[in-house]
Amino acid sequence: MNDKDIEKVLNFLREYQDLYGNNLFVDRERIESIAGEFPDLPGEPNTKPSKPVAKVREKKMTKPADSPLWNFKRKIENCKNCALGNTRTKFVFGSGSEHADIMFIGEAPGAEEDRTGIPFVGRAGKLLDRLLAQIQLKRDDIFIANILKCRPPNNRDPLPDEVAQCIPYLHRQIELIQPKVIVALGRIAAQNLLRSTASLKQMRGRLWQYRGVDMIVTYHPAAILRNAGLLTVATEDFKFIRETYREILKRQN
Ligand code: URA
Repeated sequence: MNDKDIEKVLNFLREYQDLYGNNLFVDRERIESIAGEFPDLPGEPNTKPSKPVAKVREKKMTKPADSPLWNFKRKIENCKNCALGNTRTKFVFGSGSEHADIMFIGEAPGAEEDRTGIPFVGRAGKLLDRLLAQIQLKRDDIFIANILKCRPPNNRDPLPDEVAQCIPYLHRQIELIQPKVIVALGRIAAQNLLRSTASLKQMRGRLWQYRGVDMIVTYHPAAILRNAGLLTVATEDFKFIRETYREILKRQN
């Protein structure tokens, strides 16, 4: 595959981000490895693809049919257990590898996530990608989900009843993925998981247990965007995440 073809694939994937998720975008090796799945690349960048896309879409969408995690998604994605089911655009199940050893849990979808159905694709998501890259992780090494699967209007905090309705979905995701480490992103996620009213500052920097899994709490990337001073602390947290994750994997192998 030459550079021009790779650029074509990249443009194709950018256009179809909501179908493929974020994790296919940057990795040249991965693009080369999936090249065979694009029998007929759309002509020019940004040309609206027609037939070949339908083929790829069908293939991509039927591929996880036998996966317990993606079966679970199909089972719950029309959920109307709370009022957010009537206001959302897309149900944001989560994305990444169902075999991930590390799982990140945020608060709830924002506007971009509601539009695309993919968690952490807005500005906060871009920062999260950079923090992950600093510890040599990519989206397809991890699984990302939220406490709530649907966007609260105007990004207000999740209500206790919405959390109560939605959190069993997260529990099932944890059971199916079986991560070795969980990272709670931000105060709302951490407080809901730990059933605590402690501040983020009190919760970060140590190891917790959540449903039998080691858990680390760190700042939500959106909080870092609002207060750049938090970046240094968050970088420390991500080093702690990396060390913990490596240690746990080493112990298990
Ligand atoms: N913030 C979150 O907590 N989750 C998302 O998916 C996006 C922004």
